[in-house]
Amino acid sequence: MNSGVAIYPGSFDPITKGHTNIIERGLELFEHLIVAVAVNSSKKTIFSVEERLEQLRDMFADNDRVIVDSFTDCLLVDYAKQRKAHAILRGLRTVSDYEYEFQMAHANRHLAPDIDTIFMMTESKYSHLSSTLIKEIVRYGGACHEMLDPQIEQHLKNKMK
Ligand code: COA
Repeated sequence: MNSGVAIYPGSFDPITKGHTNIIERGLELFEHLIVAVAVNSSKKTIFSVEERLEQLRDMFADNDRVIVDSFTDCLLVDYAKQRKAHAILRGLRTVSDYEYEFQMAHANRHLAPDIDTIFMMTESKYSHLSSTLIKEIVRYGGACHEMLDPQIEQHLKNKMK
């Protein structure tokens, strides 16, 4: 397919290999992906939006099809319209993600009927991951090289010192 622009929104606190796997596969479908750091008002994050943006920009510096950005004071669908994106990309890990994603996709579709949400199944080896779980593992000195990019792991360790 490889057409158009899609938004891949998330808290990315921090980005994990599960997220990067979705981004890599998303690039098979879309010409450009906007990886957008967003605010989930019910979450307290360890990294500021600026820190997360810097981490993502470093990570995708060599890929001009990945655009790193943030939106913090508007709805996802309004941001998608501003960026002329016609799709929102989301990863589904387990059945427990489904209800939450179902609600969000329907709410977004109601607000903006011309923007579709595309779901991808998270690769099974990452489907048990979450940013919260990884923060817990790093906090207590566990190994997480299979879940995190080494630079992100270092940022996390520095933050937790
Ligand atoms: N592999 C591994 N883990 C993954 C993953 C993948 N492929 N995809 C998601 N996750 C994990 C994340 O690490 C995160 O873990 P955490 O809860 O421990 O932090 C969790 O799944 C869900 O994270 P994320 O995808 O970042 O979603 P979110 O719930 O934090 O954020 C927003 C959702 C930001 C997209 C949503 O709140 C939003 O659109 N906000 C903007 C305001 C708005 O428009 N609100 C109305 C929406 S209807």
